[in-house]
Formats: sequence, C-alpha cells, structure tokens
Amino acid sequence: MCGIVGYTGAREANPILIDGLKKLEYRGYDSAGVALHRDGCLVINKAAGSVADLEKKLGDQFNKVTVGIGHTRWATHGRPTDINAHPHCSCDNKIAVVHNGIIENHQSLRQWLADEAGHSFRSETDTEVMAHLIEEYYEDDLLEAVRKAVKRVEGSYAMVVIAAGEPDHLVCVRQDSPLIIGLGEGENFVASDIPALLAHTRRTKILEDGEFASITADRVEISDRDGKVVEREILEITWDLEAAEKGGYEHFMLKEIMEQPVAVKETMRQRIDPSTGQVDLSELGFTEAELSSLEKIFIVACGTAYHAGLLGKAIIEKVAGVEVEVDVASEFRYREPIFEKNQLAIVISQSGETADTLAALRLARRNGLKVLAITNVVGSSVSREADRVFYTWAGPEIAVASTKAYLTQLVALYLLTIYIGKARRSIDPELAGELVKNLMDLPGNLKKILSEESLSRLSSYCNHLSQWESAFFVGRNLDYPVAMEGALKLKEISYIHAEAYAAGELKHGPLALIVEGIPVIALVTQKAVSEKILGNIQEVKARGGAVFAITQEGFDDVSRQVDSVFYLPAVNDILAPVLSAVPTQLIAYYAAVARGSSVDKPRNLAKSVTVE
Ligand code: AGP
Repeated sequence: MCGIVGYTGAREANPILIDGLKKLEYRGYDSAGVALHRDGCLVINKAAGSVADLEKKLGDQFNKVTVGIGHTRWATHGRPTDINAHPHCSCDNKIAVVHNGIIENHQSLRQWLADEAGHSFRSETDTEVMAHLIEEYYEDDLLEAVRKAVKRVEGSYAMVVIAAGEPDHLVCVRQDSPLIIGLGEGENFVASDIPALLAHTRRTKILEDGEFASITADRVEISDRDGKVVEREILEITWDLEAAEKGGYEHFMLKEIMEQPVAVKETMRQRIDPSTGQVDLSELGFTEAELSSLEKIFIVACGTAYHAGLLGKAIIEKVAGVEVEVDVASEFRYREPIFEKNQLAIVISQSGETADTLAALRLARRNGLKVLAITNVVGSSVSREADRVFYTWAGPEIAVASTKAYLTQLVALYLLTIYIGKARRSIDPELAGELVKNLMDLPGNLKKILSEESLSRLSSYCNHLSQWESAFFVGRNLDYPVAMEGALKLKEISYIHAEAYAAGELKHGPLALIVEGIPVIALVTQKAVSEKILGNIQEVKARGGAVFAITQEGFDDVSRQVDSVFYLPAVNDILAPVLSAVPTQLIAYYAAVARGSSVDKPRNLAKSVTVE
C-alpha cells in the first residue's frame, strides 16, 4: 500500500524522508519519490524501484533542504513506472502532491482540466489531477486552494501538498485513508503510518475524515471542511516499531483479517452504484453479445485462490447460468482441456506471479480464449498478460496465509456473476437486488463478525482445538468450498492436519476417523440442505465428535444439535460464504497462536510461488 512522509523544520529533510519511507517499506510498494523545497523551487526525484535506489540517486545534493514530502507507491491507476511514481506536479512545477487512496472521478476531472483549463498531464495516475486542480485554485494560499480542490473530488485520499511559494508549509487532507501528524520541537512531521514517525516523536495528532491540517515548523492547525479550527488531543504512541508496523496487532495475519471490511468496500467502490443498485463492470470491456454467447468458463488458480474459484463456479452456474469448470493450475496445464469458441478463462491470483497460474493463462490464450485475470497486484505478470483485469483492491497482503485477498476475490466473483447474469438476462432481478444489497451491507456485517466478543469466543474455542493433531471441516453445497479453505488455512499456519469433506461423504470413509472429542467444524448456512447436514452432524455426534457449527442467525435448530455455535448475521444464503470464511480464518489464526506457530511465515511456504 502507498506510504506518505512529510517534514518541515530545521534539520535536513532528505534523510528524514528517506528513513521514514524505509520504515513504510513493509507495506509493499513499487516506486518511490520525494519533492524538496530548494531556493524557492520544488525539486522532484522519483523512480520505479526501491527507496535505497532513490537514496543513492539523491546522494548529498540536498544537504541544506529542510522541507519536503516523500511517497512509496503501490500501483493502482497506471503501471509502476518512473512517471507514475509520486510526487505529482502542476504544469508550472510549483505545486507537488503525494496521495494515498483513489480519486474516483479522476477521468472527468482530467478531461475538464485538459479541455477547459489547458492543463497537460504527464502520468496515467488519478493523483496527478489533484496537482493540476490545486494549481487551478491557487492564489498564494495553499490551504485554501486544497480546500477548494477537494470539494470537487470523490473518492478516498490522504494527501500532503507543498507549494514553491510557501517554503515551510505542508498542507494535508484526509478522507478514508489514514494520516498522522507527528509533533516535534521546532519541527513537525506527517505520515500515513506510525512507524515512519517513531524515530523522531511519539506525540501525535490523528487527522479525522474530512479534516485539513496546515503544518509549519512551529505550528499545527487542524480545521474542518468549512475552515473551522478543530482542537485535537495529543495521542502519545507507546508501541515499539514492530507493533506499529502491524498496526498494534500481534501478527500481520490478524491485522489483515481485521482490514477486511475496508478491503471489500474498496473492491466494490465504483463497481456498484449505491443509488441504483446496478453493478457496473464496463471497465472490463466485455460486450453484452460476448457475455450472452458464453458457453463455458474455465476458472484456474492455486491454493486459496482455487477455493475462491470453486465458489465462483457454484454461484456463476446457479445465478448466471453459465457452465464453469474449475482447475488447479498445475493440473490444468497438463490435462489437455477441450477448448472451443465462446469460452472464457478466468485466472485468479493474489500475487499475479504464481508460475502455474501464469502457465495456465498462456495455455488458454494460445488456444484462442480471452483471459480475465482477478488479481491484487497492478503490473504483475498475470495482469500484463491477461486480456482483461479485475483488480481486487485489498492492499498488499504480507502474511503468507491469504485472508483479505481471498475475501476480495470472492467479492469480485459475486460482482462478475451478477454482471454476467444481467447481460444474459438469466438472473432474477429480485435476487440481483437482494445480492447487491447484501454486498453493500458486507463491510458492516464483517465488522460485527470481527467484534471483540467474537474474537474472544473463537480464541477460547481454539484452546480445545489446538490440543488436537487433526480436525475436520464439513459443509454442503456453497458451504463446501468454504470448508476446504478453512481446512487449508488451519493446516497452513497451525500445522494441525485438517481435512474438508462434503458432509454427505463422511459415511463413505472419513467417519472411521471420528473419535471421542475430535474437533469437527461444520458450516451450516444453506437452508436448502440444512436438514441434510444436521443429519450428517448427528452421525458425527453419535461417534463422539465435538461439533462447532458456523451458521446464520435464524437457523434455530442448529444450536440444539451441536456442542457450540457461532452465529453470522443473516443474509441471502448465496452470499453467506463471504461471511462464514471469516470465523474459519480466525480459528486457524487462534489455533496457530495457541500452538506457538510462526503465524505470518509458516514453515516451508512462500508468499508468492514463482516456480513450477
Ligand atoms: C493461501 O493462504 C496460500 N498461501 C496459497 O494457497 C496461495 O493462495 C496460492 O499460492 C496462490 O497464490 P496467488 O493467489 O498469489 O496465485
């Protein structure tokens, strides 16, 4: 995710900015840059690559400079190139901007700025419009210009702006993206994340949504949209650097699980129109005729992304009425699938670099299929080679175990299903409306599942689970892929041997392994098969298995038939897997913690598998 650092004071700004950017490297980035005030001008240095490369490039040529802003970029709009790196400048190079977030209406603003106001653009980024827009409003008052510019902007932003004409002044604004002011003696700082500040100060003021800050070496003033000054308490940070990188959580995995409400919201942003409830994926460039004539979709992926694909198959077939085959990429590339016309391949890969998935993509393209990639990394190999790309905006995932990327892959597949269903007129409009409503409610429902109370319940359940060397996950219908993903997650980080079964299969073999007390996690969210799975649960209980059920509010029979139950907010059964995945992630997490495993870096595994 992008990182921001800003400094104004009496010390050399350059090493402070570089050191701050290095402290934000753990968040992931692909390019870096700084803008420094020198003799009434702004000097910009930026390039794709590492902060260390930028540091070398800067050398000691800016020794006397005491004000500047820096940025690490994780590409969203536009590839990771030198030109797309931040800071971005106005036409006259007198205003420089660093920005985290997404300017949603950047296209219309860019058009207006270019056509009506004569601005010329250098980059492909959404951010560059801000530099030009501020230039448009600038009349020797940077704060006022930023205030006016922001009024025209839709989207999320943490922004820091400097102007050549205001030598020690940083102007900041935030909406839906964090920005923290660090207070010093005769100097002040700003950053998007606490680790960048800790070497200099622990006294901070947190900017809230819709607020602006005007920062000089001696003064920090926070104001609201209307310019009214806001008093903000000083927050003393007590975290050490490691805790700060993890946002105060013990592990990146837990931090990323907790980020899921925001990650799904970002993934849906601009793809659902809240006023009409319409899903708009025109960004993918499919024609209605193309979607209507689809006869088959291949979904190909590995690991967790493959489990997302299995759920994708279930919902696309059920809701949009297109036949889907799902393959593990390492099998697909060698199994000689039958390719014909009117087929589409969808590859799913968080990293976009998984070797087998890339090989599957190439195979499909060689055979004349169009390939749609669902990926989290702009500029990744998969995104470059696919015909179309659906980006999940989960932000970089650092823990090896995929959580927020998985959930956003599911959201992408639901949006796609509704979109294809509409184009083919195969989706029931009432169902489409209900699913969209449930999708819009997702961030709120995820927050409920991530409450303190749920966390402590799941953590105490894991005290029992973690004593065992094996466990089962069972589910039927849409719950089955969730069971598979739950088992993978538990194996991957707690090293407990976990198996997932379609519950109806138990009596065909695995029931032989059910012994007194063995943990069985049952997913029970599908009304159409709830009686059936409750029957399977009785088969387990009769042999002593300890059943922990994950179900929806309103499934009243479940609690009487199991040892413990975890309730999810009620939604349409089709969407329940997006919610039920979360307690399974937390079960894996707390079991791993209880067993003292290396949660974020499990043994023998890598985040990105770039070899066959
Ligand atoms: C998930 O927890 C795993 N670490 C793994 O299964 C992963 O999903 C798989 O390697 C695919 O990675 P990708 O999404 O980057 O292609």
